[in-house]
Amino acid sequence: MDNNKRPEDMVRITTSELAEAFIAEQVSAIQEQVGDKKVLLALSGGVDSSVVAALLIKAIGKQLVCVHVNHGLLRKGEPEQVIEVFRHQMDANLVYVDAVDRFLDKLAGVADPEQKRKIIGAEFIRVFEEEARKQEGIEFLAQGTIYPDILESDGVKAHHNVGGLPEDLQFRLVEPLKLLFKDEVRVVGKTLGLPDNMVYRQPFPGPGLGVRCLGAITRDRLEAVRESDAILREEFAKNGLEGKVWQYFTIVPDFKSVGVKDGKRSFEWPVILRAVNTRDAMTATVEDVPFALLQHITERITHEVPGVNRVCLDLTPKPTGTIEWE
Ligand code: XMP
Repeated sequence: MDNNKRPEDMVRITTSELAEAFIAEQVSAIQEQVGDKKVLLALSGGVDSSVVAALLIKAIGKQLVCVHVNHGLLRKGEPEQVIEVFRHQMDANLVYVDAVDRFLDKLAGVADPEQKRKIIGAEFIRVFEEEARKQEGIEFLAQGTIYPDILESDGVKAHHNVGGLPEDLQFRLVEPLKLLFKDEVRVVGKTLGLPDNMVYRQPFPGPGLGVRCLGAITRDRLEAVRESDAILREEFAKNGLEGKVWQYFTIVPDFKSVGVKDGKRSFEWPVILRAVNTRDAMTATVEDVPFALLQHITERITHEVPGVNRVCLDLTPKPTGTIEWE
């Protein structure tokens, strides 16, 4: 039997009862596969890796070593939430790696989007490899592979195609979610007790805010992306758009425009808002955000985010625009 193929009669996990049954089955399968050995997991805080972590914590507790790499390109509050949920609430074995300077130094002066992606991907593997070497007795690597990853790209997470760990670190894989669709992963995560804002979060690209801080990344402009994104998310949540809009974020280009602030001429960056809906990310339509809310978000961003004097709205569907700007 091809164990990378979802059986036709496999029940779709739509309720917590079905999720309980899946969890019980996977917990014994993982215990049997892993025995008393240690398992390593790169825990980004995204839906898939978080659900794998919660499942493995239930199955093998501290035999799981989660590594959370903060590459400086995460959204506001994300690293803190990973530490809070996994270290404090779930009592997991969590290694937190502050690699912010390392990533930002490597990215300094690099403007080409694909080059930026390559650097982020390669540096991620390097940091993870270093952490893997520090751990003794690891025999397994857990991954948040889900069924669409298998269907789309032979089991390699779509955009993480930057090579893998070196030969001597080829662990056996633990991939408990590999036959599940995204909606099922969310039900399993919810049933495992993960917070809603982790389980139902919008898609977030691997290179993170790095592809929303256009051109060569600078720390001040990256902060403008992070702060404006936090305001947009907060306002969407407050106004009932959080679960309704598929993806929404801000972009900060690498040019400035003239404005007036506090009676003085300013020369600062614009923030671009993007909010789109899609089924499969191949095409997308623009969300019709109420004008008064757009005005309120503009007011907040221009007053609260240092270095920003203007807010623009991207009205472009895909095609012709992609969802991200880089
Ligand atoms: P585009 O911009 O191609 O995006 O219309 C389609 C979806 O893919 C996400 N995206 C990425 N995800 N690494 C990722 O993990 C990437 O490099 C990357 N680039 C785009 C994007 O956020 C959207 O959901």
